[in-house]
Amino acid sequence: MSSELNKLLCAILSAFLVYLLASFLSELIYKSEEKKKIKLSYYIEKPELAEPNTNKNSEKTKITKITESELTQLLEKANLEKGKIFVNKNCASCHDFNMPIKNKIGPSLANVLNRKIGQMENYKYSKTLLNMEKEWNILNLYYFLEKPKDWAAGTKMSYRGITDSSKLLNTIKFLRENSLKNEN
Ligand code: HEC
Repeated sequence: MSSELNKLLCAILSAFLVYLLASFLSELIYKSEEKKKIKLSYYIEKPELAEPNTNKNSEKTKITKITESELTQLLEKANLEKGKIFVNKNCASCHDFNMPIKNKIGPSLANVLNRKIGQMENYKYSKTLLNMEKEWNILNLYYFLEKPKDWAAGTKMSYRGITDSSKLLNTIKFLRENSLKNEN
């Protein structure tokens, strides 16, 4: 009788163990499935990530096509004070912004607006800027400062450009207002 009882207990116990093991295993499998799913969706998203990049490019071509009046409008909303702070932090080590004109590592930008590109007196420009034959209107400032080395391949300005468009607009606003102020 007691061995019968033992057998019964044994059976119940092993059934319970099997149940535990099964649920543990299924949990494991489920979790790894879950992980796979996360990984999978991650990898599926990658090609989609490449798309926003191409979107970025089309955005860039959109930016490249920006008109002067669109830019003027955007500049109205730009923040002059923030532009000044940004320029002091990012440009002032190489450029001076005040009268009288003083060149540093880079040419003075005190009167940069509407100035001929590459024509500040007593400054030794790269051939690229020297031969550009355009002037620094807001549009050219925009392209140049967004990606100096793309817009003016061969420039010796070792600054990588302003990728944040609101910072870029603030900067141009400061350059413009500062030039106008210095003209008067
Ligand atoms: C590491 C130094 C350095 C920094 C930082 C720098 N520049 Fe320059 N910049 C130069 C040099 C050098 C040139 C001359 C480039 C050439 O001759 O190709 C130049 C040229 C320019 C010109 C053309 C001026 C002209 O007379 O044609 C503009 C505009 C300009 N920089 C704006 C800026 C602005 C705005 C910033 C900050 C966002 C900035 N730069 C940051 C070194 C610098």
